[in-house]
Amino acid sequence: MGAITVRLTDVDGKEVTIDDCEAGETLMEAARRKGVAGIIAECGGACSCATCHVYVDEEWIDMVGEPDDVEEDMLDMVDDIRRPNSRLSCQVKLTARLDGLTAEVAPEL
Ligand code: FES
Repeated sequence: MGAITVRLTDVDGKEVTIDDCEAGETLMEAARRKGVAGIIAECGGACSCATCHVYVDEEWIDMVGEPDDVEEDMLDMVDDIRRPNSRLSCQVKLTARLDGLTAEVAPEL
């Protein structure tokens, strides 16, 4: 299976392509590996900090799916900047189906 490619717009508006993502890796892990600005991931992926918040592009939101209850609670904590397409990138597990995924890093609170 080939590598998965994702494209993120970082918090400074710069587009970053990550073309060597592995299935099973989270979007947060890929972004951290590439040093994407604005993905802090303070809790290391435990879904308890919301510093990995992204806005998934509309065309990908159905494919990425809905947040679970724990993630919903965390997203409620960033209500001021939450959008319908908000996800915590540590909870988005990459698969071949998400090859080409695009998202924007949410601003820091
Ligand atoms: S890394 Fe903390 S919630 Fe995602």
